[in-house]
Amino acid sequence: AAVEVGVTIDAAKPGPVISKYVYGQFAEHLGTGIYGGLWVGPDSTIPNTRGWRNDVVAALKALHVPLVRWPGGCFADQYHWRDGIGPRARRPMRINTHWGGVDEDNAVGTHEFFDLVEQLGADAYVNGNLGTGTVQEMAEWVEYMTANGASSLARLRARNGHPAPYKVAFFGIGNEAWGCGGNMRPEQYADAYRRYATFLHPAGDTQFIAAGGHDDDTSWTDYLSQHIYGWGVRAHGISFHYYTSPGADKNGKYGATGFDESRWIETLKQTQRMEGFIAANVAKLDAHDPQKTLMFAVDEWGTWYDAEEGSKSGFLQQQNTLRDGLVAALNFNIFHAHADRVRMTSIAQMVNVLQAMVRTDGARMVLTPTYHVFRMYVPFQDAVSVPVRLANNPSYAFGDVDIPAVSASAARSKDGKLVLALVNTNPHEQADVTVAVGGAGARGATGAVLTAAAMDAHNTFATPAAVAPVPFDAKASDGRLVLHLPAKSVVVVAVQE
Ligand code: AHR
Repeated sequence: AAVEVGVTIDAAKPGPVISKYVYGQFAEHLGTGIYGGLWVGPDSTIPNTRGWRNDVVAALKALHVPLVRWPGGCFADQYHWRDGIGPRARRPMRINTHWGGVDEDNAVGTHEFFDLVEQLGADAYVNGNLGTGTVQEMAEWVEYMTANGASSLARLRARNGHPAPYKVAFFGIGNEAWGCGGNMRPEQYADAYRRYATFLHPAGDTQFIAAGGHDDDTSWTDYLSQHIYGWGVRAHGISFHYYTSPGADKNGKYGATGFDESRWIETLKQTQRMEGFIAANVAKLDAHDPQKTLMFAVDEWGTWYDAEEGSKSGFLQQQNTLRDGLVAALNFNIFHAHADRVRMTSIAQMVNVLQAMVRTDGARMVLTPTYHVFRMYVPFQDAVSVPVRLANNPSYAFGDVDIPAVSASAARSKDGKLVLALVNTNPHEQADVTVAVGGAGARGATGAVLTAAAMDAHNTFATPAAVAPVPFDAKASDGRLVLHLPAKSVVVVAVQE
């Protein structure tokens, strides 16, 4: 039996713009997230442009990646930027103590990172080291990247091959200060933030992001939004991290594949907690920052399962299935509903790590279901959000867990099209969705659907197109669209008005 759902799009009541930065990505010095997955070095037999893999860069370009966060994560608070400039052969070897204890030869440093973002056509989100770095070191990195005068740091950058200043769109002052960033209390971190931020003088327009809280803990947003101000101190956002796991541990296994329906629904339920977490933090922001100066930057989100068997400890390698595609879409729909505050996010992570877009093995590359969902949602970048109301949205239930069967989001894209995204979380039943579009009504809709026969369907190097979007059409009747969403699917369409 199909599930019947009514959706009303108030096309005449535009909401806030969905910043393109909501579609940002995170690339950390972690496992093969950078080394091997993206960077192979200019001498590699794998085709590359100045060291960056051509296949991976081309695939990511199709996502219009707006922003890359680098170099961490936990790694950021052990990273010393001077290790990563100058001739590569002379850069020091360090140990990546957070992630596998592997050698870090600093082949990818500031210049290589900016080359990557330029190849992608993205903006840079650089995360500074507050954990083990000094105020002076952080201030000098910002000057090195952005100064446009004749200062010795600007000249050093020029001697290292880049006379023009780099654009640093976002700069993070520490990461997870409550944990790997130094195990601080909000009071301690707020004091540190004020001191570090006082001395950061980017030459261009750089937005500063304070390292905030995680999961259901709102104390960081609450405290920071009241205390990261002072003479000469700027703050543009507070970060937030939330990872999706398949819920309460029943047998100790959170496999990325081979899971049953209880883990399917648990994962989707857990990911939808993002809505409540954002709402609770936004309530704190609204109380202390009613002007909405501060953005709520969800700069780490995505699924976190047991590491793939046989993978190296600390490399956070996991398969990516249709379930991850739905997780991505559900989160996008939540972010869109909070577009006024959630003005930037970055999924963890871009390549090979956690909920990745792309997986590689030597010279081989495969696109994940998450990649396809990011691609389907490209029209939402910088689109004007449009309110959506759901009526008669039934629950999809399994065991003692239930979640809404359908999730929806709509926007007016930059090229004027009305775009609608829908998720059917039920793995067994089609959802028949009737969409009423305010104003002139609808004549039809075309777009793409992502689904598969199995809940854990995924792409491998041998079967790279097992999960891939296919064209999707919907007809209209009396000005109303009728969309037949397959079980366990993501659909994105442009509505013909
Ligand atoms: O994304 C992996 C890690 O998760 C990040 O380095 C850290 O910030 C978080 O704990």
